[in-house]
Amino acid sequence: MLHISHVRKRYAHAKRNAVDDLNLEIENGQIFGFLGPNGAGKSTTIKMLVGLLKSDEGTITFEGEEVQSLAYKRLIGYVADEPYFYEKMSGAEHLHFIADLYGIDQKHREERIDSLSQTLLLKDRLGDEISSYSHGMKQKLAIIAALLPQPKLLVLDEPMVGLDPKAAYLLKNLLGDYAKAGNTVFFSTHVLEVAQSLCDTLGIIKEGTLLACGSFSELRGNQKAKDATLEQLFLELTEEGAAQ
Ligand SMILES: Nc1ncnc2c1ncn2[C@@H]1O[C@H](COP(=O)(O)OP(=O)(O)OP(=O)(O)O)[C@@H](O)[C@H]1O
Ligand SMILES: [Mg+2]
Repeated sequence: MLHISHVRKRYAHAKRNAVDDLNLEIENGQIFGFLGPNGAGKSTTIKMLVGLLKSDEGTITFEGEEVQSLAYKRLIGYVADEPYFYEKMSGAEHLHFIADLYGIDQKHREERIDSLSQTLLLKDRLGDEISSYSHGMKQKLAIIAALLPQPKLLVLDEPMVGLDPKAAYLLKNLLGDYAKAGNTVFFSTHVLEVAQSLCDTLGIIKEGTLLACGSFSELRGNQKAKDATLEQLFLELTEEGAAQ
């Protein structure tokens, strides 16, 4: 289980908390979709979740391991909103570099690189230098690299950005299958159709505060219009938030 408890973060010189008293519990095998307007605190939360930023208060654990521990780091995979690469490497070199870091044996890594790059339609380009990749290709490479060590918790910050409709569809299936195998997926997105169709639980955040959390039908049940779309719910909740 992923357990986020009373997490708070304020950047230096900021007037308000970027994330304020955030509490979340996500069971293994679940897909959690993190939604919210620009600047809501999604990436800040995600960076704390993967140990890149330290929270000012609160605790984050996965399977009982503390976020800053090596045991925790071994359990997670991360796709950043703007993935960074050594551009002079080829895609294959990058993936072998990641496999080396995680100590994945030769046979196992070849199989995984092959199957993941085939699934995401990047296999033909793995031999090319990353500097020659399009935005979407880099995104695919970052996703393959994160999945390579088979993390129990996969965290992705806006993974659909830059992907063409076919690739977005393939990624959706991949994430669905990955969670069905018992892994936990936590991702932020602005693509509400993807969130609605893929996620077991949705969290809507605004100005650092979690406004709503639950399954789509639970969120809908709390609204006046019981047949509301996620877009209507999102707009209603985030606009209500602004009026307070
Ligand atoms: N490095 C930083 N230094 C100072 N303030 C920051 C920094 N990064 C983010 N912030 C601020 O923290 C708040 C939350 O930003 P964050 O990047 O977490 O939002 P987000 O929900 O990921 O938005 P988006 O949908 O645009 O990606 C914003 O007010 C933002 O201006
Ligand atoms: Mg962001």
